[in-house]
Amino acid sequence: MTQAIRWQCFSDPQAVAGEAVQRILTAARQAIAQRGAFKIVLAGGSTPLQAYRQLADCEADWARWFVYLGDERCLPVDHPERNSRMIAEAWLAQSRIPAENIAWIPAELGAQQGAAAYGDLVRAAVPFDLVLLGMGEDGHTASLFPGQVHDSETLVVPVSDAPKPPPDRISLNYPALADTRALMVLVTGAGKREAVRGWQQGAALPVAKLECAAGIDVLLDEAANPGTGPG
Ligand code: 6PG
Repeated sequence: MTQAIRWQCFSDPQAVAGEAVQRILTAARQAIAQRGAFKIVLAGGSTPLQAYRQLADCEADWARWFVYLGDERCLPVDHPERNSRMIAEAWLAQSRIPAENIAWIPAELGAQQGAAAYGDLVRAAVPFDLVLLGMGEDGHTASLFPGQVHDSETLVVPVSDAPKPPPDRISLNYPALADTRALMVLVTGAGKREAVRGWQQGAALPVAKLECAAGIDVLLDEAANPGTGPG
């Protein structure tokens, strides 16, 4: 199957975040209307934080939102570099999503034990309604890095020797990321431009292995878009 990818370019990271928020809220309204719940997988890293901060100021049927993470860094629960900590500070700590609806990845258990525990939870949760991801400058996504091979059947995998610190992580794997009604990747900044170019030209990057039957929506800003500007 040739994976359908819809590339949409916006002026700057703020515009990317604004568009992402509108699409997330629309997906939530549709999921809740059709199935009574909205299951979203949140991206880690810094790119989506603007969108999370905007969501903190929005109105939605929050009690019907169920939140999962695409990956987590094996750090203490209160470490400032934990994705859960960054997402809580940007949005979820002040949101009306019930705490019991937020499934943080138990990375404090260590990569192996935490991945096994989260794999059981993900197996019971799929299909998701929306998977939100970022992309690294090397084309990684979640904590799926170039040159690292994982069992293709495993939903959630332990990661060691990650090139982006910390070395130990837990990541949803491709079959879990693909088991979703929608998949959106947010990419901003000139540092991502070469990886976007490689993705568009068919390079075997981790992000290029993503699949979604409904197609993949990539929201990027002009700085990350090889089709604009110098170079
Ligand atoms: C992480 C993220 C990772 C991130 C990319 C992009 O834990 O680091 O999950 O996959 O999405 O590295 O990171 P930035 O958005 O900070 O550029």
